Amino acid sequence: MKKIIAVDGPAGAGKSTVSKIVAARLGYTYIDTGAMYRAVALKILQTGKPAEDVTGDIDIKLDDAARVFLDGVEVTKEIRTPEVSRGASDVAKFGFVRKKLTELQRAMAIQGKVIMDGRDIGTQVLPNADLKIFLTATVDERARRRFEELKAKGNVTDFEQVRKEIILRDKQDSTREIAPLAKAEDAILLDSTNLTIEQVVAEILRLARS
Ligand code: CDP
Repeated sequence: MKKIIAVDGPAGAGKSTVSKIVAARLGYTYIDTGAMYRAVALKILQTGKPAEDVTGDIDIKLDDAARVFLDGVEVTKEIRTPEVSRGASDVAKFGFVRKKLTELQRAMAIQGKVIMDGRDIGTQVLPNADLKIFLTATVDERARRRFEELKAKGNVTDFEQVRKEIILRDKQDSTREIAPLAKAEDAILLDSTNLTIEQVVAEILRLARS
C-alpha cells in the first residue's frame, strides 16, 4: 500500500473531491494545501496588511473533516469565494509564503497515510511520495464544474467569468518562477474530462494498492 499520495493539477480538475473520498476509503488523512494558500489570502483581505506581515506567525489548521481554521476561527466557507481564489494565486508566487506553507505541509505528512493535493506536491513538497497523480481535464469541463460548485453554494456568477478566471489562474500558477504547477516526471497523468468521480477514485485506489 502506498503510504504517501500526492495529487497535483489545475483548478477544477477534481483534486479535492476525489482526494477526500480516497482518504476516507483508505483511512488516510486528506490535506488540502490550496486551502492553506487561500487562508493566507483571506487574512490579507481581512486585515489589509501586506503578505510579509501576515505570513510569519499565521496559524492555519485543517481538521479531519476538512474544516479550515485561521488564527483559531473557522473559515471553511469564507475561503471559497472567487476573490480569495485570485488572492491565493497572487500570494502563491512569493517564496516566503511557499517556504512557510511547505514546512507546515511536510510536518503534516510526516506520519504517512496521507493524501495531499495542490500544485507542487509531487515536485517540491513531497518529492519522495509513493504515488504521484497529475489530475487534469479540459478548461471547459473544469470551468463547468467550478460554475456548478459556486452556484450550489449560492454564489452569483456567470459561466464566462468563471472560465476566464480559471484560464488566468492556470496561466499564473504554471508560469510563476517558484514551484510552478507542473507534472512531476514520475507522476501518472489522469484526464478526468470524461470520467465520473467514482471512476477517478477507483483508478487512484487501484494504483495505491498496487
Ligand atoms: O480548488 P482550486 O483547484 O480552485 O484551487 P486550490 O487548490 O484551492 O488552490 C488555490 C491557489 O493556491 C492555486 O491557484 C495556487 O495558486 C495556490 N496553490 C499553490 O500555489 N500551491 C499549492 N500546493 C496549492 C495551491
